[in-house]
Amino acid sequence: MTNIPDDKIEEFLSFFSGDTPAAHAALVRYEQQRHTNTVVLDNRPPRPVGEEIISIQGVSMRYKLGKQTVDALRDVTLSISKGEFVAITGASGSGKSTLLQIIGCLDKPTSGKVIVDGINVNKLRDSKLSTFRNKTIGFVFQFFYLQPFLKLSKNIELPAMFAHTKLKERREKVETLLQQVYLTDRANHYPKELSGGQMQRAAIARALLNNPKILLADEPTGNLDAANSKEIISLFHKIRDEFGATVVIVTHNSEIAAGADREIKLSDGAIVA
Ligand SMILES: Nc1ncnc2c1ncn2[C@@H]1O[C@H](COP(=O)(O)OP(=O)(O)O)[C@@H](O)[C@H]1O
Ligand SMILES: [Mg+2]
Repeated sequence: MTNIPDDKIEEFLSFFSGDTPAAHAALVRYEQQRHTNTVVLDNRPPRPVGEEIISIQGVSMRYKLGKQTVDALRDVTLSISKGEFVAITGASGSGKSTLLQIIGCLDKPTSGKVIVDGINVNKLRDSKLSTFRNKTIGFVFQFFYLQPFLKLSKNIELPAMFAHTKLKERREKVETLLQQVYLTDRANHYPKELSGGQMQRAAIARALLNNPKILLADEPTGNLDAANSKEIISLFHKIRDEFGATVVIVTHNSEIAAGADREIKLSDGAIVA
């Protein structure tokens, strides 16, 4: 520690209490900077690749079934950067879906810390958490979960209706998304009139509706043949490349895992590689 000369101590202390013009100016600059930072964060500019967007710290998940307990995750720690394309692999029952649900703030761990896009999500109350989740994260599942009684365009539009987005805005957005997933000519079809690959593309469009920073997919090709799987995976890569989204996919497919930036392997609830 550097010694401060006696005659400077007063100046030094007054600086911290904001008592001198220089200190005052510094405090003003600091406040402006803080304010600017807040505004910048709210505008959500693209962040450089490499910056952490998901941080899982010492997370464990224990399910209780009567007297039996299942340790679905054991002290899992991992960090995912913005723009990364990550594959989570592992045997059935190894904890993949549990981990994805925790990353996606659909479930809270028994212990450990979960930080998503800079927010300690364990600390958010349910209403705030669902608002945060809706604007930050898009989900894609193995079984599509499209509403059978709604046309494709309505299926995709649904989350925007819940978010009370204006009619014109949401229709335009749906049109753009239909183009991006190559389904414009299917807008007025019902899910049952589509192939599995087309249904999954519609589900991906729906997941993108609120411009999520993070796209999570749980075995998105589990129900598709090889050709359709390839198409879906290239779509995920396009979403990462063109929208800068961070993509995390749970998969059994070794080709998908090989094409990812990183593979995270789970075994019995723990990361093995
Ligand atoms: N809601 C739940 N209640 C009780 N046990 C569960 C629940 N969800 C998952 N499990 C158990 O946790 C373990 C991990 O499950 P899961 O995350 O679904 O694995 P994976 O997706 O890799 O197949 C399994 O043993 C499973 O039976
Ligand atoms: Mg699973």
